[in-house]
Amino acid sequence: MTTTKGQQLAQSAKLRSHIDEAVKEVMSAAAKIEGVRPPDPDKIAKAKELMDQIGVVRGRPLHYPYVGSGIGRGAYVELEDGSVKLDLINGIGIHIMGHSHPRVMAATARGAFSDVVVQGNLEPNREYFDFSKKLLDIASRQSRLKHVWLSTCGTMANENALKACRQKKSPARMIIAMDAAFAGRSTLMAELTDNPNFRVGLPQYNEVLRVPWYDQKTKGSSERSLAILKEHVAKHEGNICCFTFEPMQGEGGYNVAPREFFIPMLDFCKEKGIPIWVDEVQTFTRTGQFFAYETLGFGDYVDVCTIAKTAQNGATFFTSEFNPKPGLIAGTFSGASAALCAGLEILEMLDKENYMGDSGKIMKIHHEFIAMLKRLGQTTCKGLLESPEGLGLMIAVTPFGGVKEKVDKLTQVLFKNGLICFTCGRGTYRLRFLVPAVTTSEDIKVAEQILEKSILEMA
Ligand SMILES: Cc1ncc(COP(=O)(O)O)c(C=O)c1O
Repeated sequence: MTTTKGQQLAQSAKLRSHIDEAVKEVMSAAAKIEGVRPPDPDKIAKAKELMDQIGVVRGRPLHYPYVGSGIGRGAYVELEDGSVKLDLINGIGIHIMGHSHPRVMAATARGAFSDVVVQGNLEPNREYFDFSKKLLDIASRQSRLKHVWLSTCGTMANENALKACRQKKSPARMIIAMDAAFAGRSTLMAELTDNPNFRVGLPQYNEVLRVPWYDQKTKGSSERSLAILKEHVAKHEGNICCFTFEPMQGEGGYNVAPREFFIPMLDFCKEKGIPIWVDEVQTFTRTGQFFAYETLGFGDYVDVCTIAKTAQNGATFFTSEFNPKPGLIAGTFSGASAALCAGLEILEMLDKENYMGDSGKIMKIHHEFIAMLKRLGQTTCKGLLESPEGLGLMIAVTPFGGVKEKVDKLTQVLFKNGLICFTCGRGTYRLRFLVPAVTTSEDIKVAEQILEKSILEMA
């Protein structure tokens, strides 16, 4: 394979050694981050002023008093107020390699020496190809996906997926989606998302039909969902453009369903010629395999698939039959050069360094984390912390019976005590963790102490 001028430069020994020196310097500063620490009294006022200003410019205060100082170490991040937190949400799932990872930083720096900041779909550079090729190499291992189109976020990847399905089934309009789905923030993705709070004041397009998600407590839940799917199809025969779902629900509550829940619905869609679009924006790289369709074993059924977050870029995969006609999807941006390089480096690490599979690093973290939550729920936090579950690095637990106000309050107490996580779910609210793949057993012990302290502080 030939190398371009830009690549030769980025790989030149001199440039690499400059980058390595710079990364070394950052790492020696990062080494001082040894664990959770409280804010520095000398920095609190300035940090508060900055956060207030952020609130003013964006017209809404920050959710957490969080502004990163630009340095971290593994699962730890330093904030502008001098505090260090254990970050178990990582930007809602972006930083799978944690903070200040030397290889991610070096790759980002190499990308920064490209001639352009953001690569366009009209004029891409080599990194565009390398990243896309790696994505396809991974995606095609257990699916029929053959092409990938880059975009800069999950919402846009989803818009492209929907357009591809609609063009294929033109003029079909209706979308079948799950209860409690989340699909992003564009006008149509806000409608596909099953949460009226995220579309207050927006008109309804009435293009979405709902199927209930799996309910392990209700006998016959899978049969019921299949029956409802069939009813929709019978009622809207010829007017259904796709069936879409998250293989594990994210915002909706970290809801997991077994393979047997999906297969009859997927078989029925195939029988009826209904396109299957799997939204892996949150699950990509997190479930112990690159794709949750691998974890759940239904890759053969997938026609279209979307990712973002840990990839550092959005992307829509298509099978050959679903490759849209020219003109349907485009857009100025394909991705920032630095993000494409960093995304590729992250994928290479995940692929080659024993992260994936039943005995990989991701599942090891999963088992330890779940065991820690169970232990708390059975001992000091009995009755206050229930139902830990999830797949791989996506883990949720229900504190205080899932009462929204209490769970929200707990996230703030946890933040104060040094642990950052977030909520998910409707009706029953849960604490959710998007645990980085570099989390150590020691970090999980720290999480346990902070969870216990915070829950007991509130109880
Ligand atoms: C399943 C799912 N789809 C789509 C999106 C939207 O992605 P983005 O926020 O990058 O636009 C998200 C974001 O959380 C998601 O979890």
